[in-house]
Amino acid sequence: PYKNEFTSNLVEWYHGEKRDLPWRRTNDPYKIWVSEVMLQQTRVDTVIPYYNRFLEKYPTPQSLAYAPQEELLKMWEGLGYYSRARNLQSGVREVVEKYDGQVPNNRHDLSKLKGIGPYTAGAILSIAFNEPEHAVDGNVMRVLSRVLHIKEDIAVTKTKKIFEEAVMDLIDQDDPGAFNQGLMDLGAQICTPTSPKCLLCPVREYCMAFQEGHPEELPIKSKK
Ligand code: ADE
Repeated sequence: PYKNEFTSNLVEWYHGEKRDLPWRRTNDPYKIWVSEVMLQQTRVDTVIPYYNRFLEKYPTPQSLAYAPQEELLKMWEGLGYYSRARNLQSGVREVVEKYDGQVPNNRHDLSKLKGIGPYTAGAILSIAFNEPEHAVDGNVMRVLSRVLHIKEDIAVTKTKKIFEEAVMDLIDQDDPGAFNQGLMDLGAQICTPTSPKCLLCPVREYCMAFQEGHPEELPIKSKK
């Protein structure tokens, strides 16, 4: 039973149109974690070969925890933002030492791990553990600012909370991973910053900015 037609259209669109990406073929929370860290500042097409090589070399939390840092950084070469790799290894070491290699399945414990913020915690919880948790990044704020006509300034830190609450109202309880990844894909492929492809959008009927006629004017962002 879907909450509303925005949610059902989004989830059904996701299942029909989703890209076949390597991290969408697993529920392993460690592998989802690796993918989300790589995807934070790097494009999907660039990430794919790195993700595959990385998990061939480090298929388990233990194998990454005990890897020499030099070797790890070598695997990361070309992805940039090397602190991501060091933080990932620190977080995974905590999981091995404190949780016997089992990635925590709740936001409280996940959020204490090095490198895991609210977005990454929500992505792991929804995708790997099927927990209805928000995963709000810039793309998701753009989509929802348009759908819900939210005119708050996304450059202001506390604005994110408004979007997190909106996601919690709309999220599909049965398939939260599909809902969150549907928002991500919509932001990446359809609801783009300039010239959004509204005629292809599965939720345009429920989009206030589309009805108003100027979706590209949202979100509002004061500074950069
Ligand atoms: N960007 C961040 N997380 C993603 C995911 N799970 N799928 C596609 N793009 C993403």
